[in-house]
Amino acid sequence: MNNISKLISLLGGTGAVAEKLKIRPSAISNWKKLDKIPSTKLEAILELSSYLDVNIENFFPSKKLNNLKFKMLLIICGGIASYKSLEIIRLIKKTDIELDVVMTKSAQKFITPLLVTSLNEKKCYIDLFSVEDETKMNHIKLARNPDLILVAPATANIMAKFANGLADDLASTILLASFSKIIFAPSMNPIMWNNLATQENYKTLLDRGIKFIEPDTGDMACGENGIGRFPEPKTIYEFILSYIKESQMLSSQFKNISIVITAGPTVEAIDPVRFISNNSSGKQGFEIASELTKRGAKVTVISGPVNIPFPNCENVIEVKTAQEMFNNVTQQLPADVLICCAAVADWKLIPKTSTNNIIDLNNKIKKTNKNLFFETIKNPDILETIAKSNLRPKIVIGFSAETDNIKKNAHSKLISKNVDLMIANDVSNNKVFGEDYNEVCFIYKDNYEQLEKQSKKSVAYHLANKINDLLVNFKKEA
Ligand code: C5P
Repeated sequence: MNNISKLISLLGGTGAVAEKLKIRPSAISNWKKLDKIPSTKLEAILELSSYLDVNIENFFPSKKLNNLKFKMLLIICGGIASYKSLEIIRLIKKTDIELDVVMTKSAQKFITPLLVTSLNEKKCYIDLFSVEDETKMNHIKLARNPDLILVAPATANIMAKFANGLADDLASTILLASFSKIIFAPSMNPIMWNNLATQENYKTLLDRGIKFIEPDTGDMACGENGIGRFPEPKTIYEFILSYIKESQMLSSQFKNISIVITAGPTVEAIDPVRFISNNSSGKQGFEIASELTKRGAKVTVISGPVNIPFPNCENVIEVKTAQEMFNNVTQQLPADVLICCAAVADWKLIPKTSTNNIIDLNNKIKKTNKNLFFETIKNPDILETIAKSNLRPKIVIGFSAETDNIKKNAHSKLISKNVDLMIANDVSNNKVFGEDYNEVCFIYKDNYEQLEKQSKKSVAYHLANKINDLLVNFKKEA
C-alpha cells in the first residue's frame, strides 16, 4: 500500500474522505493511484487529519511542503560550526521554502557572504547600515517577512543580546523587530553553555516563547568534551520541517470557529471623576486571542480599559462597564466558544448621603466632612447568564481568580455557572496581575490538571489545545 493510500485509509477510507471534502470518490482513487494529493486539496487534508488526530508527518515527504508557501530567514552567527549552516541552506533549497540569509560580522570570519549568496542564489544580508539594502529590503522587512527565523549556529553572544534587548547589528535588530516564530540552534564550548549567564539567558528566551534545538553532547572542535555541539544539519532541517508541518496544521485548526473573549477589567463610574474597578491587565486574555487567531479562529475580543497593545485578531471592541461588556458579548452571539477572561466589576455603586439624599451624578461629588454611603446594584454575571441561556456557545470557559481554596471554589463556580472549563489561579498577595507569568489549574467537572508556572503565552497555547479537545468531544457527542 503506498503512502497516500495508507493516509486515506487512516482518514476513514475513500468514501468518507470524498464525502468530507465534497469531491467524487474516483478523484480520491486517482490520488491513491498516483500516490499524490493535488496542491489545491492539501489544506483540506491537513485540516481533516488534525481534526481526526491523525499524524500525517510520515505521509508527506519534504517535497510535498512545496505546495504550502513558507518563508524562512536563517541567521548565521560566528562559530566553528558556521560552515555547517551551508548544509542547512543546501537542504532547505531542495524544498520550495523561500529562504533569506543574514550573517553576523563574526560569521563572516568563518564563511563568506559570497559563498552563502551563491548557494542560496540570493543576496545575503550583512549590514544594518547599508544604503542599498535599506532601500530594497530594509531590516524591518527582513524581520517581518519570514514565518520563521532560524538562528543557527546561535552563539552565547546572540542569546545574551536577544535576552537583554540589544540591537547593535543587523541580526540582533531583526530579532527584536520580529513577530515571527524564532528558533535557536546553539553551538558553543560546554563551559560557555553551562555558564550561569548563558543558562539564565536560555531560560529567559524559553519563557518568552523562543524554541530551542538543544545542542548535542560530545567532542568539540576546541578539544573539550561536553554539551554544546551543533546538532547535525540534517537534524536541524528535519526539526524545521516538522515544525513547519505542525504550524501549517495548527494554522487551520480552528478554521470556521468563532470565539468571543472578554478581557481586562470593567470600570464603574461613581461620578465623572471617580470609579471602582478590578485588577486586570488584559494580558492573559490577549495572549489567548492571539494564539487562537494564529490557529485560524475568528476571534472577537471585548475588552475593558487596558494599557497594553491590542492583540492581532478579527475584531476588538472596547467597553467600559460590565453592562456594556454584557451587551456586546450578546451581540456577538451565536459563537462556537466563549472565554470569559475579564475581571468584571460585580457591582455598580450609587453614592448616597447619610440621609439617603439623591446626589447629582453629572457633577463631581463635593468633599464635605460627612461620610458618603453607597447602594450596590449587582451587575449581570456575563459568564453565568450566557452559559445558562439559549445563546450558549458549544464551549464556555471561565477564569476563577481566588485567594483561598482555589480548586474547590473554582469547581463550585464551574457547576453553578454551567461552565465546561474553569481556569483557576491563585491571586493572593497580588500575584499574577500585570505579570507575564501565570500558574493555573484547568478544572473540569470530574477532574483537574495543574499546570506549572509559565508565561501567559504558554498558558494560552495549552488552553488552545484544550479547546480543540473540547470541540472534538462536542462533535463526537452531538
Ligand atoms: O464569580 P466570579 O466573579 O469569581 O467568576 C469569575 C468568572 O466569571 C470569570 O470568568 C469572569 O470573567 C466571569 N464573570 C462575568 N461577569 C461577572 C463576573 C464574573 O462574566 N459579572
